Amino acid sequence: MELATILCFFAPFLFLVIFKSFFSPSKGRELPLPPGTMGWPYIGETFQMYSQDPNVFFSTKIKRYGSIFKSHILGCPCVMISSPEAAKFVLNKPQLFKPTFPASKERMLGKQAIFFHQGAYHANLRRLVLRTFMPDAIKDKISNIESVVQSCLNSWEGKSITTFLEMKTFTFKVALLSIFGKDEILYREDLKRCYYTLERGYNSMPINVPGTLFHKAMKARKELAQILAQIISTRRNKKPEEYNDLLSSFMDEKAGLSDEQIADNIIGVIFAARDTTASVLTWIVKYLGENPSVLEAVTEEQEAIIRDKEESCEEMGLNWSDTKKMLVTSRVIQETLRVASILSFTFREAMEDVEYQGYLIPKGWKVLPLFRNIHHSADNFKEPQKFDPSRFEVAPKPNTFMPFGNGTHACPGNELAKLEILVLLHHLTTKYRWSVIGAKNGIQYGPFALPQNGLPITLYSKK
Ligand code: HEM
Ligand SMILES: *[C@@H]1O[C@H](CO)[C@@H](O)[C@H](O)[C@H]1NC(C)=O
Ligand SMILES: *[C@@H]1O[C@H](CO)[C@@H](O)[C@H](O)[C@H]1NC(C)=O
Repeated sequence: MELATILCFFAPFLFLVIFKSFFSPSKGRELPLPPGTMGWPYIGETFQMYSQDPNVFFSTKIKRYGSIFKSHILGCPCVMISSPEAAKFVLNKPQLFKPTFPASKERMLGKQAIFFHQGAYHANLRRLVLRTFMPDAIKDKISNIESVVQSCLNSWEGKSITTFLEMKTFTFKVALLSIFGKDEILYREDLKRCYYTLERGYNSMPINVPGTLFHKAMKARKELAQILAQIISTRRNKKPEEYNDLLSSFMDEKAGLSDEQIADNIIGVIFAARDTTASVLTWIVKYLGENPSVLEAVTEEQEAIIRDKEESCEEMGLNWSDTKKMLVTSRVIQETLRVASILSFTFREAMEDVEYQGYLIPKGWKVLPLFRNIHHSADNFKEPQKFDPSRFEVAPKPNTFMPFGNGTHACPGNELAKLEILVLLHHLTTKYRWSVIGAKNGIQYGPFALPQNGLPITLYSKK
């Protein structure tokens, strides 16, 4: 996450915290706070955290204080947790911990989007989203996804590309396909133009004056809502049976959603689906390039699927049962999700004073489950820094592997994400080879963990 993001996230709490620390008398309960240092008043430990890789900051703290410790980032007191049990506790107690985001992010995605909510409204949205993205519903989309894969790979062939940027184009198309079904093509260009402007403002300082990226993003957000209103009204004149996509799920009368609620959630799903899946794909391309024996095993598995198809004279397209045979490839995805941990952590906020393992987590404090540290702990994974997909031949211990979160807000798109990655890898490994341009080993956070410069590569056809 960038400093700007953190800044605008915590600034609103500053006043409150300073006020509270001077005036609020300590409660009667005598539970201690978790260990840790709060740093200087006001700035807390922000500079320590940002003067280095945040994960180094976290792991240094874990070594010193254990799996639960407190800190203070830009005026905002936090408890960071890195034990599997504690992460499970926080993510599965929605009555104690609510999701929390900077106000500027809420305005950009839309206040009614699923991430920001709890209770009945959240449960209703979740049901509608899961209905569209569960295995039975996405099975039928494989051939569409496959066409998108083929046209993308075709357009990259023989060129030098930035893997992350091109993967974003791919995941954007798949997201639109699952949201708008066959109508996707009609709206692609307009939606793309607005969405890309919105995105550029997402990581900028939230200053809403003409000329700033944030201002342009807010304008693009309005235009997006207008386009979506147009799409919804066109769809109202069509027969519902013609569609089985997220929009029709949201427009179901029984769902009871307003146009504005639908728009906020469509923008929210595009946001949740796109950069996440594209960064995972970028990491996979990187790790396969660095591990020739793994690449060979994946290619062999994918070629076997093609051979089987040729022998049985089946239609050539992939189907659901083919993807279930991709065991080696699936382990590569799991191991990439673990090593890369693209969502290093998430945020919750304590809604009341909570006691956990003898410590007090005070009301209003942020709680950060540190996914990356859980995935990189030697207690949970042997030689954690090593990329070794075969470790997933044995199921990981409970709650030690949460790339899609856990509990009430766990990722409802995980099946689609895995499916589109498998289909892309099938074609990539059987028909193409690639070389990385100017191998660099850094990680950038924007806000998802990503290989330095988005991994520039040149892609060649094998033939
Ligand atoms: C590999 C790619 C992906 C990863 C690693 C990922 C990860 C996550 C994680 C960790 C959460 C929970 C965050 C929290 O608890 O604070 C989440 C939530 C969510 N994800 Fe994903 N995601 C991915 C792809 C997708 C896709 C493809 C979609 C849409 C089809 C999607 C839709 C969502 C939505 C709507 C939520 C919010 C759920 C709620 O608040 O109830 N994600 N994702
Ligand atoms: C999927 O394709 C395989 C060939 O790879 C074939 O044997 C199988 O019957 C197909 N399954 C379905 C459900 O069409
Ligand atoms: C949460 O974690 C438990 C234990 O690892 C697992 O059984 C469950 O399926 C997870 N739930 C979700 C929604 O990921």
